[in-house]
Amino acid sequence: MRSVFTALTAIGLMIGAAAAANAEPITIKFSHVVADTTPKGVGALHFKACAEEKLGDKVNVEVYPNSQLFNDDNVLEAMLLGDVQLAAPSLSKFNKYTKKLDIFDLPFLFNDLEAAEKFQKSEAGQALLSSMEDKGIKGLGYLHNGMKQLSANKPLRVPADAAGLKFRIQSSDVLAAQFEALGAVPVKKPFSEVFMLLQTNAIDGAENPWSNIFTQKFFEVQKYITESNHGLLDYLLVTSAEFWNGLPDDIRPVLDDCIAESTKAANDSALSIAMEQRQKIIDSGSSEVLQLTPEEKAQWREAMKPVWAKFQDNIGADLIEAAQAANN
Ligand code: SIN
Repeated sequence: MRSVFTALTAIGLMIGAAAAANAEPITIKFSHVVADTTPKGVGALHFKACAEEKLGDKVNVEVYPNSQLFNDDNVLEAMLLGDVQLAAPSLSKFNKYTKKLDIFDLPFLFNDLEAAEKFQKSEAGQALLSSMEDKGIKGLGYLHNGMKQLSANKPLRVPADAAGLKFRIQSSDVLAAQFEALGAVPVKKPFSEVFMLLQTNAIDGAENPWSNIFTQKFFEVQKYITESNHGLLDYLLVTSAEFWNGLPDDIRPVLDDCIAESTKAANDSALSIAMEQRQKIIDSGSSEVLQLTPEEKAQWREAMKPVWAKFQDNIGADLIEAAQAANN
């Protein structure tokens, strides 16, 4: 009897092993809207390489850049429906799910990318990763793009220069308030339409980090770029909590490691990518890059500052204070 039991157990184990060996790979679709050569594009490809190297044919990571699969207006819904497993929309695009992330859109909140990173790594910044778990969205980490610059077909040196102009913005009420504070007209449009809108003069200007201005060729259709560094464009790498928590125990920790490795690689290279692409824009001669004097910069800061008070209650004064502390 005992030997029959042993034999059956052995057969069971063999069947289990065979089934595991034949198991379909877990497909992870990573959809984003920018080019492979941006920090986010680099991070996505790094994640794919890491996951496939460490997990072999247990996973199959498919990266879809340049809005090929979804744009940022529908990617989160698609993720919750299971049509895509990873996305990294800009921090400006989560306001349907949480108002807390609006903090990252406050103009002149961070002096530079280093301060943004310091806040993101702080306890307060890390707590924001789980601010949408009740909606089924799990934050896996922050990804940098960079500080935003203003562009238009006329030189923007002081806030009054922007009055009356139409600026494309991301789907953020904070960014709308920022341009309204300048007497300008904010126009919410998907990223994939920005080049065409600028080219056809349907809008006058935009705000983007260097890497997006370069890779999307916005500099070819904007005569002037003001190096304003007035805001941040970073991303939240997200997944569906149901998907991630349901991953097998031998897979999830490996993917967590790959997330940590790839976000670090992307973030470490973000500033150098931005500076390299900024230089290429200058060298192209297509667009003139304008520097602000400290007095001019102070005028932009002053003009945009009322936006803070408007959103302070939604975001929380304590959180704003914690973010500001990262500048020191
Ligand atoms: C992105 O960098 O992913 C797009 C940001 C935008 O919509 O401007």
